[in-house]
Amino acid sequence: MVVTDARRAVARIAFVAVLVVAGPLEAGQRAAPRAMRARSVSRPGVSKVVNRNARIPPRAYTRPHQRNLQSYQRFLGAGFVAALDGARKGDVWIDSGGGLGVAALEGALSRGLETYVINAQDFWRARMPRETIESLAVDLGVDTADVPVATRRVWRSGGMVDVPSFEQLGDEHYATLAARARAKKRAATRAGRFKYLVGFSEDKLPTIRPRARIITDLYGAYFYSADRVRLLDLYYGALAEGGEAFIRFATDSGDGPRSVVRTAAGPVPLERYLVKTYPRRFRISRADPRVLVMSRPAGGPARLALDERLRMVSHDMVEVGGMELPGAVLEERNLLRDRDAPGR
Ligand SMILES: C[S@@+](CC[C@H](N)C(=O)[O-])C[C@H]1O[C@@H](n2cnc3c(N)ncnc32)[C@H](O)[C@@H]1O
Repeated sequence: MVVTDARRAVARIAFVAVLVVAGPLEAGQRAAPRAMRARSVSRPGVSKVVNRNARIPPRAYTRPHQRNLQSYQRFLGAGFVAALDGARKGDVWIDSGGGLGVAALEGALSRGLETYVINAQDFWRARMPRETIESLAVDLGVDTADVPVATRRVWRSGGMVDVPSFEQLGDEHYATLAARARAKKRAATRAGRFKYLVGFSEDKLPTIRPRARIITDLYGAYFYSADRVRLLDLYYGALAEGGEAFIRFATDSGDGPRSVVRTAAGPVPLERYLVKTYPRRFRISRADPRVLVMSRPAGGPARLALDERLRMVSHDMVEVGGMELPGAVLEERNLLRDRDAPGR
């Protein structure tokens, strides 16, 4: 009897402990605390991701999440354009925090790339608003021959251009276009060219087998997740030799999450710290000052092991330009801080 009661008590404690660690099931629907303190977010095996953006249900999500390939080229800059042009049929592109995954789906359909989109919400499963269906129809080249899509001449970037006009469409037409867009996605998925993985990049990246030639993160996981050291380690591990990751870490106006590294010489933004500490693996070009580019050199180490160099001291949620972004304070671990040594 006594033993049974003791067992029950232990089970109850374990159950409460699991709830505390895992968080409430409907976390996205509850009011999140104003500021959060650092906990064991980067402990191996613990997939606790500090990220408010990713917990917004798809139908309540209002930030742009359906950028097309052209937008990706504009936001990720010349390095990404070159990497895309150099990619061959069957090369792997992973888009981390890819929203609806329109850009990658375009890459799959028009270039034969093998694409993976990781996103916390399932935007394909949710009901699509009309604007989403319109942009999908245009970006994926959905057949509109039997749907009353008109064209309008508008002034854009210094010239007149024809743009499709959807004003004549009724609900049934939108349903037809949405079904055709979904059919394109299905066909690309069946052909092994498009995989839409719903969840956190922190959890999904290690499950992707083939190594990537390109990884993109356009206002995705890096922007909205606090543990950027873990993400960068995962991106590096997911790259093929000669592959590159393109990470947009601030908007055109410079708004973005602040990750600061405490060094002996004072605090340094994480992106600048990386470029200085690993000059052969990280760069920020003058032309694209908001894009951090990570390369995995041929013959280089298989792991970046940034977590062996930096540890997170604290993080907090800060409102920047109308976005809730987790900032982080990092500290160099007490290690031999070897710079990129020759041959590494
Ligand atoms: C602003 S949208 C951008 C989407 C897409 N990159 C685009 O430009 O159209 C950000 C998306 O990243 C997703 N996201 C944020 N953090 C993530 C994470 N750690 N893992 C997976 N998805 C994440 C969010 O769920 C959201 O759908």
